[in-house]
Amino acid sequence: MTTSDPLSRQSAKVQRDAKISDSVKARRCAALAVMDVTANGTALELALAATEDYAGLAPRDRAFARAIAATVFRRSGQIKAVLKPFVRKAPTAPVQAVLRTAVAQIIFMDVPPHAAVSESVDVLKSRKTTQGFANFANAVLRKVVEDGKKLAAASPPKANIPGWIRGEWERSYGKIPMTKIAVQLIKDPGLDLTVRQNREDLAAATGGTPVGQQSLRLKTIGDVTALPGFEDGQWWAQDLAAAQPAQILMRQFEDVKNIRALDMCAAPGGKTLQLAAAGMDVTAVDKSSGRLKRLEENLARTKLSAKIVHKDALEFDAEPFDAVLLDAPCSATGTFRRHPDVLHNRSPKSVADLVRLQDKLLPKAASLTAPGGVLVYAVCSLQPDEGFPRIKKFLENVPDFRLIPLLSLPGLDLPPERFEGGVVRTLPCDMPKSGGLDGFFIAAFRRKA
Ligand SMILES: C[S@@+](CC[C@H](N)C(=O)[O-])C[C@H]1O[C@@H](n2cnc3c(N)ncnc32)[C@H](O)[C@@H]1O
Repeated sequence: MTTSDPLSRQSAKVQRDAKISDSVKARRCAALAVMDVTANGTALELALAATEDYAGLAPRDRAFARAIAATVFRRSGQIKAVLKPFVRKAPTAPVQAVLRTAVAQIIFMDVPPHAAVSESVDVLKSRKTTQGFANFANAVLRKVVEDGKKLAAASPPKANIPGWIRGEWERSYGKIPMTKIAVQLIKDPGLDLTVRQNREDLAAATGGTPVGQQSLRLKTIGDVTALPGFEDGQWWAQDLAAAQPAQILMRQFEDVKNIRALDMCAAPGGKTLQLAAAGMDVTAVDKSSGRLKRLEENLARTKLSAKIVHKDALEFDAEPFDAVLLDAPCSATGTFRRHPDVLHNRSPKSVADLVRLQDKLLPKAASLTAPGGVLVYAVCSLQPDEGFPRIKKFLENVPDFRLIPLLSLPGLDLPPERFEGGVVRTLPCDMPKSGGLDGFFIAAFRRKA
């Protein structure tokens, strides 16, 4: 992105950039990242990190850049509706990206409109290829300041969800839940921690609310490393829904101590930590070395242990395990509350590719499950194809496994239809009073003894 994008390809750049304030640089990072996510399917965090100014910015400016880009993806449909009357012919991608980031600030963020307009115009002026659009953008954004709020209000939250995803969710979950899911996209999701012990003490120290079996819910994200208990590994960040697959697996055993468990796609390790903290003898496999490094850091901080294997799980072999967790690679569309870019860097084709991989990983996980053992399949996806059809195909093709019907989740208030077919499907609009949760699909199986 940094070498090929039109905003960055400039010769006298260094000299000119010396005159640019950090807040303009932050806005430029946001626009570049928006382009990268949209054009190349890059994850937002990686796209931001790849922009040349990002690493040199203060944490506050980096957070500002991230908040602008995330708002563009949370409000994509409404931003489009705001710009439509004022932009007759689509400008080049870099100019569009700057306009979208400017509208995000003017309408949806706590930013003074005049600063959003003038600094966005400065972003365009900072590059030769875009400086010719400065007057045009200035005129458009002034109109946005005047009329943008009305235009945004006339566009419903569900307009922020790309059409192909909206169609799949509406067909699978219904029109009303779809509308409620869309409302979760424009809300601040807060932060869930999975707490090892003394949850009430941590709740008192942080003002958080205990929820589910092991989680503590905080209203704002902030600097997690500054929270009490971080240094000595009393907890780790993990969405309430993401904590369920390991809990379901552990509940199938009377005593989990020393049970041999395999976490097949383990990094960065939230579920490995849960299994290890309960006393299981855990082997954690993942094919990404970068993500495994984070798993190692998490184990070190929490002083927990697991045997780490850097390998493609399809090529991993070992003595079968009593407990196997397959938290499969998936589109991750269920995590849109904290990662709104997932709705903009996925496609029907990328989902189909993942489905093929899931269809290989599930039988592989079965082959690594001992007779009488338990296998749990989970995906943090809301796409229907990554859920029920996968386990239906698995049960048709792999003998010796039967579904363990899941009828409720302790401490979670979910409607009965979330357990249809003996599996669990959480929707982001569930438990709205306590703030919602990620979208997960979870199924559990036992192998014949
Ligand atoms: C949903 S994430 C796992 C999250 C993890 N279980 C946790 O709770 O922190 C899926 C993981 O699968 C890994 N992965 C993808 N394909 C894989 C494969 N063929 N073999 C092993 N790991 C794979 C990815 O690197 C990624 O870390």
